[in-house]
Amino acid sequence: MKIAVLPGDGIGTEIVEQAVRVLGALDLKFEMETALVGGAAYEAHGHPLPESTLKLAKEADAVLFGAVGDWKYDKLERQFRPEQAILGLRKNLGLFANFRPAICYEQLTHASSLKPELVSGLDILIIRELTGDIYFGQPRGKRTSPDGNFPGAEEAFDTMRYTRPEIERIARVAFEAARKRSKRVTSVDKANVLETFQFWKDVVTEVHKDYPDVELDHMYVDNAAMQLVKAPKKFDVVVTGNMFGDILSDEAAMLTGSIGMLPSASLNASRQGLYEPSHGSAPDIAGKGVANPLATILSAAMMLRFSLDQEEAAQRIENAVKKVLAQGLRTPDIYSEGTTKVGTREMGDAVLAALG
Ligand code: IPM
Ligand code: MG
Repeated sequence: MKIAVLPGDGIGTEIVEQAVRVLGALDLKFEMETALVGGAAYEAHGHPLPESTLKLAKEADAVLFGAVGDWKYDKLERQFRPEQAILGLRKNLGLFANFRPAICYEQLTHASSLKPELVSGLDILIIRELTGDIYFGQPRGKRTSPDGNFPGAEEAFDTMRYTRPEIERIARVAFEAARKRSKRVTSVDKANVLETFQFWKDVVTEVHKDYPDVELDHMYVDNAAMQLVKAPKKFDVVVTGNMFGDILSDEAAMLTGSIGMLPSASLNASRQGLYEPSHGSAPDIAGKGVANPLATILSAAMMLRFSLDQEEAAQRIENAVKKVLAQGLRTPDIYSEGTTKVGTREMGDAVLAALG
């Protein structure tokens, strides 16, 4: 088993370091190889996703990813910006299925901006299609507007599109995931306005015929955004396209009050996957040793479960995380009165100690 470790930028290096320590303590046999990605790779090699990094990621069974990005790269030409590294990895590895759980940990219920009764026990799984939609659709670019409100004016455009097989495979992933949970799927679309998402809705409905034991409902994305803050516990598995999934998964993460706790997995058809925290590179706190490493540590647990077939080890890590929360240890992002504030490394130490 080989793991490509790509820490990236900002807090990425600090949090991945803790996850690597935890993985190293499991007495499992795997090889870990680290490479630069994002802004760090741009500085060293002139590209956010150098050939050598991509090659390593492709060869590995799984990629453990930190975060990329920093405001200082915002003025670079798009192809050199750190975000292109994660988009390039998704595309090149075919990582079409993105799992973003939003779980409200019992001890952190009060960290949510919503009333505790609305979020206590919350456990949603957002499944976001990750290699299609307006993120990757061609054509895109800038031109002189041929028509519309201001013909002849300068304009920019992107293309929203989905093929039938792309929708079918992500729908299957969602129905299969629902079978292991409460057997309910909400498909989020904008079928009332967009051709792409009328087609999405039709194809999801067709695929659903193969999963009669799973309940399916459809919801427009604007309504879904509203229901997520009104009654989030009504959702279980949510499946949606790339852009809606980007937006709704941040909203869902924030409901839990602790985006620093949420892992994610992006899988391809052969279960090779990229595992990363749901939060970003947080350059404002980078290097201060205060970032929460738990989302990355939990991402490593997801990696063991989904790509490396090590369910027992995954549970060991997850139980250790629950234990440190029960001990009252908190990084500043999840700190509240009466708990013990710790830094990134101390949190890593505590998880190591709790592994048992
Ligand atoms: C995410 C991020 C990325 C996305 C960016 C960094 C390209 O927001 O993983 O949700 O938009 O997909
Ligand atoms: Mg996002």
